[in-house]
Amino acid sequence: MTKSVYVGMSADLVHPGHLNILHKAAALGEVTVGLLTDEAIASYKRVPFMEFEQRRQVIDSIKGVAQVIPQTTLDYVPNLLALKPDYVVHGDDWKTGVQQQTRQRVIDTLAQWGGELVEVPYTEGISSTKLNKALKEIGTTPSVRLKSLRRLLKVKPLLRFIDIHNALSGLIIENTHIDTPNGRREFDGMWGSSLTDSTAKGKPDIEAVDVSSRMNTLNEVLEVTTKPIIYDADTGGQTEHFTFTIKTLERLGVSAAIIEDKTGLKKNSLLGNDVPQTQDSIENFCYKIRQGKQAQATNDFMIIARIESLILGKGVDDAFERAKAYLAAGADGIMIHSREKSPDEIFAFCKLYNTLEERKPLVAVPSSYNTVTEEELQSQGVNIVIYANQLLRSAYPAMLKTAKSILENHRSAECDADMLPLKDILELIPGTK
Ligand code: SPV
Ligand code: MG
Repeated sequence: MTKSVYVGMSADLVHPGHLNILHKAAALGEVTVGLLTDEAIASYKRVPFMEFEQRRQVIDSIKGVAQVIPQTTLDYVPNLLALKPDYVVHGDDWKTGVQQQTRQRVIDTLAQWGGELVEVPYTEGISSTKLNKALKEIGTTPSVRLKSLRRLLKVKPLLRFIDIHNALSGLIIENTHIDTPNGRREFDGMWGSSLTDSTAKGKPDIEAVDVSSRMNTLNEVLEVTTKPIIYDADTGGQTEHFTFTIKTLERLGVSAAIIEDKTGLKKNSLLGNDVPQTQDSIENFCYKIRQGKQAQATNDFMIIARIESLILGKGVDDAFERAKAYLAAGADGIMIHSREKSPDEIFAFCKLYNTLEERKPLVAVPSSYNTVTEEELQSQGVNIVIYANQLLRSAYPAMLKTAKSILENHRSAECDADMLPLKDILELIPGTK
């Protein structure tokens, strides 16, 4: 009787290593490929370059593959229990690292019916990791980057963004990751903060840095990164001007603009009612949203409406009424902001928001309620968490400390250990040497 063989794979960048595994599998029997879904891949590494259907088409047409089915988790067990294959075939490179436990569970499960794990030696000289690095170096295009936010929202329950204020901060977001037992953790994208962009330019956060200058910062970052950008468009300015901003952002490949429902001279939200701030009327703000949506050239760009009711002490019910109106006007998502120490009012808003049938992505900015965890926000239904200013806020005290140390010691030796070594700064940006 023909033996059954199961191969789980992501098959995003198909290379001879994959073909080798599939040929070995076909020699053992009839091959079912469990193709990891976009969600399953994103749960432990990055979002695949090709979507599930595209990857399915590629694998389906490889000789020796009898059928392709989705594998919805990194864990093989559910599919193995359903198919009870005689063999599972996998590359031997999963004996260490994040897939170690997955491998053990495969062995234990197969043992239930006498199945066997066959491991194929890793194909030297080619790897998805190397191909990924090469792709990063090639960069991206505005339209691919623009779409990537919607794509991420589809496959990951919570996205993590942090502030940019220059190209270097963008590079930190692009390249920093940590490896955990559950896979890789990194930032999903960048927040074009008005506060940190203005502060880096030594100007107040009152829409005094003009849109052209804000776009220059974005351009600087876009030059050296590939991740999506959500742009802090402040109030959006005059509606007639906002429509031009939208077109510029789209052309650059920015994924979304967030506009806040304030009017007149904008002051930073974290000041709350300590300074005069006026909220726009629902009617005016809906008009701005509608005009912005009409100005878009693509269906991919997102306009997210930011509600300042909690900032201005108007309460959760006012915020919810506005959320409904803004979504009805065409907003692609809602950002709810608060300057309380506790996340309670945010959670109260989430509870109401989650009752909406036509629920769109929800954004939270835990600057003041900073003890809340990403897991807690996710469990309340938040889809994007923005660390709005943390990179700039950490850079400033470090620079101030160095400046003072040099003044005190008449030389830089005392602060040398706090700084990036000279050798490292010469290697930080590829091509410097
Ligand atoms: C920003 O980062 O500029 C924001 C968030 O708009 S806040 O500073 O909290 O208003
Ligand atoms: Mg701002």
